[in-house]
Order: sequence, then structure tokens, then C-alpha cells
Amino acid sequence: MKITKICCIGAGYVGGPTMAVIAQKCPDITVTVVDINQARIDAWNGEDLDKLPVYEPGLDKVVAEARGRNLFFSTDVNKAIDEAQMVFISVNTPTKTYGEGKGMAADLKWVELCARQIAAASTSDKIVVEKSTLPVRTAQAVKDILDNTGGGRKFQILSNPEFLAEGTAVEDLLAPDRVLIGGDPGPEGQEAIEALVSVYAAWVPRERILTTNIWSSELSKLTANAFLAQRVSSINAISELCEQTGADVTEVARAIGADSRIGPKFLKASVGFGGSCFQKDILNMVYISRSYGLTEVADYWEQVIKMNDHQKARFAKNIIKSLYNTVNGKKITFLGWAFKKDTNDTRESAAIYVADHLINEQAQITVYDPKVSEEKIYADLEYLNTRSPEEIRRLVKVVYDPYEACLDAHAVAILTEWDEFVDYDWQRIYEAMLKPAKVFDGRNILPHEELRTMASAYSPSERQYSNY
Ligand code: UDX
Ligand code: ADP
Repeated sequence: MKITKICCIGAGYVGGPTMAVIAQKCPDITVTVVDINQARIDAWNGEDLDKLPVYEPGLDKVVAEARGRNLFFSTDVNKAIDEAQMVFISVNTPTKTYGEGKGMAADLKWVELCARQIAAASTSDKIVVEKSTLPVRTAQAVKDILDNTGGGRKFQILSNPEFLAEGTAVEDLLAPDRVLIGGDPGPEGQEAIEALVSVYAAWVPRERILTTNIWSSELSKLTANAFLAQRVSSINAISELCEQTGADVTEVARAIGADSRIGPKFLKASVGFGGSCFQKDILNMVYISRSYGLTEVADYWEQVIKMNDHQKARFAKNIIKSLYNTVNGKKITFLGWAFKKDTNDTRESAAIYVADHLINEQAQITVYDPKVSEEKIYADLEYLNTRSPEEIRRLVKVVYDPYEACLDAHAVAILTEWDEFVDYDWQRIYEAMLKPAKVFDGRNILPHEELRTMASAYSPSERQYSNY
């Protein structure tokens, strides 16, 4: 079957960039991305490509090339579903905040609603592709709903998890390490798999397109994220040991990363991993493992999250301890709020939790992030439900100039590894800060020795330009 019309439900961080690249690479396929969020769709359709709802390097060019040609953004969900041969589900699957599995299981409400909507809107057979990361065996639920409410139409369900990382989404989509497609082993399932393989084969070498059964595909996505997060927690655990023993975690990472069996990637010690995937997917895996009675498996993976929580808390406690055990009324500047550089996404960002910890101690926090807005920062803190919006606004200020942010600060904390932070005039920042000036580098990106030398040269009594 040759695919000529695709619909994608969900115009978020995954749906938007993925569909933009499919449209760019397959000009003979009409791709319509739909969302119930009118503002989001308007932003995707907006003239100003700097204001797309998702910031990703290179995305503006891809959208500029394909939009209006064969890439469309719309809120007319039913029409787009009905016209398409293939419907991607790319909606959010956050951790449940209520009921059974609260705080652990994925909330599949939106996925189920999508399945019901696809069933109701379809007047012809469809291939339905799970793009959102879903717990293993979700495809069964989607299939049950479609088969029972789809008015006799035939639906093939495929799992095609997205491995793109934010900040490098376009790069990852253009040259993926692999594309994974899981489907039913029967002939119709294989035909559906082949249809999707043909879409990707327009730009991805065939040998990089892996096909599996549907459960392997669903579980592979959770497993990939769990392994990546585990590496970060492992190196973060070592970072604490390094601080006690005089070892340097960057040197240790380099030394172990040179072993080809270990490899150099994902070994950067940090203030803790964030993002919409790692924590959610591990919690999900822990929940599923427990539901099958696999206590040791669940406990093993849960430890990755515990280590991450510990690292965030440890960073905040270290700031408090270094500021003579009180931060009450002290200005602490956060450079960075996004969960990593080159994205405006703040979901589960370590900055949120470090800020909350410091606000508990009545610190005055000033935040500068090159891409994150004031409203987003306040919304993130309000979402924690730990204090009133008024208190948050009293204790947290957001500014759009880094030097203004650091003026009269007792301490500067680096929460995101934005490249521009390294290039700042740190002499100027140092002079503008209160003394002793302290810098807590939660991403290990600054030249620590240089900063120490600079501070001691400025005044021998001020050698406390310390680093995390
Ligand atoms: C991740 C997976 O990489 C991607 O394949 C999947 O599709 C979605 O989840 P993402 O969340 O965009 O992608 O970011 P990633 O680059 O994996 O980083 C996650 C977090 O780990 C960030 O907070 C990052 O700063 C942190 N991290 C990463 C470290 O602290 N150290 C590292 O060495 C690598
Ligand atoms: P992700 O990172 O997985 O892309 P996002 O939250 O960025 O997650 O995007 C998911 C999008 O899916 C949101 O814009 C949301 O409005 C949209 N969405 C959720 N449910 C539906 C639905 N039933 N129909 C259309 N859009 C939906």
C-alpha cells in the first residue's frame, strides 16, 4: 500500500517536528497535524517562524519548506483522520496524578480518547501508529477500542516509538540511529509495517529500519530511556564519591568512556536529569514490573529515580551549606531553567526542584534562561502545588539579561548547560556579585580553575569563588 495521506494527532514536541521532517522528505505525502489546542495550531501556522510552539534548531527551515505545500496544521481532527490512510497518535502520556497508579503509571486518558475519536471519525480502514511512548501492551487496548467501536472498519496497529532528543530533534530525525516499527506478525500486520517502512525509506537507509513484534517495540522504547537515565544516575552517584575523594568526575568519565564497551556518551555528571521522558518512563516500567510481581526488577529501576532526586536535593543543600547554612533573603541567580540546552522545554527540569528547595529556605531567586518565558517558570513552580502564586512571585524574579540577573547575587547557580553561559564575561559577573562570590556549576561547563584564579587575583582575601 502506498501512503499518500497521513494525519498526526498531537502537535507537540514529538508530533510537530516528526511530521515536519516526514513532510519535507516525502513531498508526495500530504501530512496534516491536528491538535485540540487552537493556540498551538495557530502558532504552528504563524508567519513568524521564530515563534513556533517548539524551539528546535533547524526546525524553522524544515517548516518553511513544507508548510502549505504538503504539511498542514489544523484543529479539524475528524476531517484529517477520515482523509488519512495512516494516523499517528502523538499525544501526551503524563504520569497519573490520581487514583490507581498515581505518581507511577502513565495516564492513558488522551490515548484512549484518540482511539475512540479515530474509530468514530473513520469511514475507511486505517493504519494507526503509536508514536507517543506507551506502556508495553497499550496497543492491545487501542486495538480493542478500535475493533469494538470502529463500525466494522479494519485497523492495523503499529508501534513506532520516537527516539529523538529535544534540542537535536531535527538532526535525530534526519539521520536516526534506527527507526523501530513493531506490528502484528500476520500478513495484514506485515503489510502495514511495510507501508510505514516505505515512508521512512525515503531518507533512512533500509538497514536502519528495524521491524519487530509490537510488544518488543513498545518495551524497547521504555528500555532505551531507562538505560540512558541509568547512565546519568550512575555518573551522578560517582560525582558524589568524587567530591569526597578528590577525584574529578570529568576525568573519571573520560577514562571510563574511552573503554569501547562503555562508550563516551551520556556520562556528564549534572544537577540531575529532567525532561518529559526519563522519569515518566522509568516510573512506568517500575509500575508494570510491580504489577507482574517482579519486585527486584521494580526496585532496581526505581533506584535510578531515587539517585536523581538525591542529586537535585544535594545540589540545593550544597548551596545552602556554602552560604553559611542560611539563604534567607539572599539573592541566588539561576542561569538556565530548561531541562537541557537548546530547548524551551522545562518539563521535570532539575531547576524547578532546586528552586523549590531554596524557596523553602526563603531564598530570593532570580532566573535567566535564553529561551524560557517568565509565565512558564511561574507555571512550573505553581504546578508543584507547594505554595501560593503570590509567594512564588514574591520570591522568584525572572529577567531577560544575564548580567542584570547576576547583579548583587550571593551566588550564581548553573542549571542548564547553555553554550552562551561559558562565553559570558565572568570577570564582569564576579565584580557585580556580592562577596564572597560563589558559583555552583550544576553542569560542569565553566573553566573552574580560571574562575578561581581570576577571583584570587582580584583580591587575595576573596578566594571563595567556589564551584560545585
Ligand atoms: C530522551 C532520549 O534521549 C530520547 O531518545 C527520547 O526519545 C526522549 O528522552 P530528551 O529527554 O530530549 O531525550 O533529552 P536527553 O538528551 O536524553 O537528556 C535527558 C536529561 O538527561 C537532560 O536533563 C540532560 O541534561 C540529562 N543528561 C543527559 C545528563 O545530565 N547527563 C548526560 O550525560 C546526558
Ligand atoms: P509530546 O512531548 O509527547 O509531543 P506534548 O504535550 O508536547 O507531548 O504534545 C501533545 C499534544 O497532544 C498537545 O498539544 C495536546 O493538546 C495534544 N492532544 C492531546 N489529546 C488530544 C486529542 N484527543 N486530540 C488532539 N490533540 C490532542
